[in-house]
Amino acid sequence: MSTITSDAVRHAHQLTVTRIGGRIGAEIGGVRLSGDLSDETVAQIRAALLTHKVVFFRGQDHLDEAGHEAFARRLGELVAHPTVPSADGRYSLGIDSHHGARANQWHTDVTFVPAYPAFSVLRAVTVPPYGGDTLWANTATAYAGLPEPLRTLADGLRAVHSNAYDYAALSPEGLPEALAQYREVFTSTVFRTEHPVVRVHPETDERTLVLGNFVERISGLTGRDSRALLDLFQAHVERPENTVRWSWTPGDVAVWDNRATQHYGVDDSDDHERALRRVTVDGDVPVGPDGRPSVLLSPDAVPAPAFGIASGASTTA
Ligand SMILES: [Fe+2]
Repeated sequence: MSTITSDAVRHAHQLTVTRIGGRIGAEIGGVRLSGDLSDETVAQIRAALLTHKVVFFRGQDHLDEAGHEAFARRLGELVAHPTVPSADGRYSLGIDSHHGARANQWHTDVTFVPAYPAFSVLRAVTVPPYGGDTLWANTATAYAGLPEPLRTLADGLRAVHSNAYDYAALSPEGLPEALAQYREVFTSTVFRTEHPVVRVHPETDERTLVLGNFVERISGLTGRDSRALLDLFQAHVERPENTVRWSWTPGDVAVWDNRATQHYGVDDSDDHERALRRVTVDGDVPVGPDGRPSVLLSPDAVPAPAFGIASGASTTA
């Protein structure tokens, strides 16, 4: 049974929700994750997730691939990555430092397709002896904290996101072979999607900023103006007060609302192995404050058999 701190909110079944940041993040105790959780417990987890944007569970070492997916399925329909093959042919995606995958840029998962995932569920399998933390930022409080003239400006903007951003910029000495291979797979189909810069969250009605490193440019602006505005808004997302940082232990599980967050995997554990598994839950097409939805710009149509009916890339409007 978990300890109830004075700041914790006590629920039925001993489930506790303890905030770990002022604007984002909470640790949930007293629950053993599985596909067999009661509807009431799932509802409590979902409510905490929508409120705190990212929630953490410790000691979930019992989870295997199937258990991880079974729990995630309680939050919605699972969706495979549009281009990167899942580990073992399942929905679970390997995030493995030895395979060249690096996420040390602020991003929201898979925003290069219209209906990008609603939730991501990340499980730590192997963690390095030091480093390798992950940070999350709250894109709802980032928007809410903008001065009114900047909120008004953001409300009217749209931006093009793509998975074909410049990996070479990450590594001045040139791409290591593993990273080059990963990039080839990651961009095997190049997607371009125009999203509103401000999304009205479908469950909370909060307005959130839809930015991060898949953004190519703001629609209708020159490259220089676009970069200046992107840097301006992104700086508000990344402010330390707007973030939470998690240091992984094997068996930890993090679940985030991918519609209201960005995250960043810190690449500071040298050559030590870091292996996590991610399962994503399908989302819906974002809608801006003006009611306009996101639009898939290219390819003209998503190849039908490659992604399956559950893919977030399958929706074009
Ligand atoms: Fe990610």
